[in-house]
Amino acid sequence: MSGMVAEIIDGRKIAEEIRREVREAVGQLVSRAGITPGLAVVLVGDDPASATYVAAKEKAAKECGMYSKTFELPSSTEEKELLDFIEELNQAPKFHGILVQLPLPSEVNVLKVMNAIDPSKDIEGLNPSDAGWLLAGEPRFVPCTPAGIHRMLLATGHHPDGQHVVVVGGSLIVGRPLAALLLQEKPWANATVTICHIGTRDLPRFTRQADILVVATGNPRGITGEMVKEGVVVIDAGIHRIEDSTRQKGYRLVGDVDFESVKKRAKAISPVPGGVGPMTVAMLLVNTLKAARLSARAPIPRHRIEDWEGVKPSVA
Ligand code: GUN
Repeated sequence: MSGMVAEIIDGRKIAEEIRREVREAVGQLVSRAGITPGLAVVLVGDDPASATYVAAKEKAAKECGMYSKTFELPSSTEEKELLDFIEELNQAPKFHGILVQLPLPSEVNVLKVMNAIDPSKDIEGLNPSDAGWLLAGEPRFVPCTPAGIHRMLLATGHHPDGQHVVVVGGSLIVGRPLAALLLQEKPWANATVTICHIGTRDLPRFTRQADILVVATGNPRGITGEMVKEGVVVIDAGIHRIEDSTRQKGYRLVGDVDFESVKKRAKAISPVPGGVGPMTVAMLLVNTLKAARLSARAPIPRHRIEDWEGVKPSVA
């Protein structure tokens, strides 16, 4: 053992600072352009975890001066109904951003739903068009979790430039867009990226090579200490409820990383809760702010919170 004490990356604190700046920017948008950013959140079904996340998003939006409304649809909602509902939101001027919480019922085609959101309102950037712009090196709306992970790396001085970033999990909402973001040939990215996924053989062979390891597998505490090298920076994008009778709620939250064993070898590690989760919410607010600003008839300059450490999107 190295005896090193890992830095705990405090996502809550970084997110709080971002939210403070968003609140200021919202105030300016209201006073200069009369625009109150509006966020529509769509929740299909009754998954209790999703309900918790959605409530946090609405609350955060309101706290920074935005207008926000959550629309709850039953789990029996059919794809066509959901698409029609999204079209209504596309047409509603008071909403600048639309978020459809995932997962959706299995009968519903996720890509079709994401593609139905007007790209100017798709503040999660999960439609194929935004995914393409990101891959092409001209990011528009960067998906919130990858954007949040990137910001927490930069905010703590763990720059990806020249580093080997191993992303475990190739999902549409985390792994793939994060890889595309970190691959950009820009000073704020410029990483060597490996994506491991369900088809990867001998996962530890890859995770042990990581300078920066990002885990978004959906597998509770699946990454353990012996799978990482000494001095790695670890970002955990997972969140799971596991039974814990010592807690009042009967459960506690854990990530995709076995925090205790990995912490012993890591230089820095993000906890669950209090790591990536609050960053996702903060970036959702930044993207909603941006969508609202871009909706103005006369151009409004970006607030600095839309940029970070030289990350200035060349489009919009
Ligand atoms: N489900 C879990 N995380 C997310 C997220 O960041 N966005 C959406 N839309 N659904 C999620």
